[in-house]
Amino acid sequence: MDHPDQHQELSIEAAGQSWTITRPSDLETLWQSMDDHDAHAEEHIPYWVELWPATLALTQWLAGQHLAQKICLDLGCGLGLSALVAAKQGALVMGMDYEPDALFFAAQNARLNQVIAPLWLCMDWSRPGFQPLCFDYIWGGDIFYEQRFFEPLEKLLLRCLKADGRAWFAIPQRSVSHNVWSRFSHCGWQVAHRGCEKVSVEQVCMTVDLWEVRKR
Ligand SMILES: C[S@@+](CC[C@H](N)C(=O)[O-])C[C@H]1O[C@@H](n2cnc3c(N)ncnc32)[C@H](O)[C@@H]1O
Repeated sequence: MDHPDQHQELSIEAAGQSWTITRPSDLETLWQSMDDHDAHAEEHIPYWVELWPATLALTQWLAGQHLAQKICLDLGCGLGLSALVAAKQGALVMGMDYEPDALFFAAQNARLNQVIAPLWLCMDWSRPGFQPLCFDYIWGGDIFYEQRFFEPLEKLLLRCLKADGRAWFAIPQRSVSHNVWSRFSHCGWQVAHRGCEKVSVEQVCMTVDLWEVRKR
C-alpha cells in the first residue's frame, strides 16, 4: 500500500490517558479499494485498520498489571494501541502482525504518542520464530474471530509462554468464538474469566470478555 499524507486521526481515551491514533482510512473504504482479483484478498481483509472495542477492554486490563521489565507479546497488534499502553508502563513489548501496513501505522502511532516504540514484528502467528518459553505475558485483542485460528495460537502459547506466564485475550461475544475457552480447558490450560464489559469505539458497541489462560 502507498502511504499518502492524508490519514485519519482518532482521539481515544484508553487506560486513563488520551491517545492519538492514525490510520489510512476506515475498514470499509480500505477494503473497497483492494484488488478483488487478488487471490489472497479473503485472507487479508484489513481488519487491522479498525480500533476494535476488544482493544480498549484489553488496555484497561493491562493498565492494572505489573508489566515493567516483563517480556511481552501483542498478537495481531493492528494499529498498536495495546502494545503502546504496555510499553508506556515499562514492558518490553513486541507488537506482532502479519500485515506490514498495520506495523507501519503502529510505528507512526508510537511516535505520535511519544512512546518508546515496541519492537514491531511482521510475522504470521502460524509460523512464529521465537525461542521456546521466552514470554512472561502474551495477549491479543479480538484475534479469535475464526475457528481455524485456535490451533496455531494454542501451539504458539504452548511453545513461547514461560511456565509461570499468563496470556490475556479480550474478545467480543460472537458465536464464532463461543467455544474457544472450553477448547483451551480441553487442551489442559487453566482458564479464568477476568471480566466482561460493554465497550464502544466510534459507532461500534460490543460486549467484550477478558480471559486469562495459564499453563497447569
Ligand atoms: C480484528 S483485528 C484486531 C487488531 C487489534 N488487536 C485490535 O483489537 O484493535 C485482528 C488482527 O490480527 C491480525 N492477524 C490476523 N491473522 C494473523 C496471523 N496469522 N498472524 C499475525 N497477525 C494476524 C490482523 O492483521 C489484525 O491486525
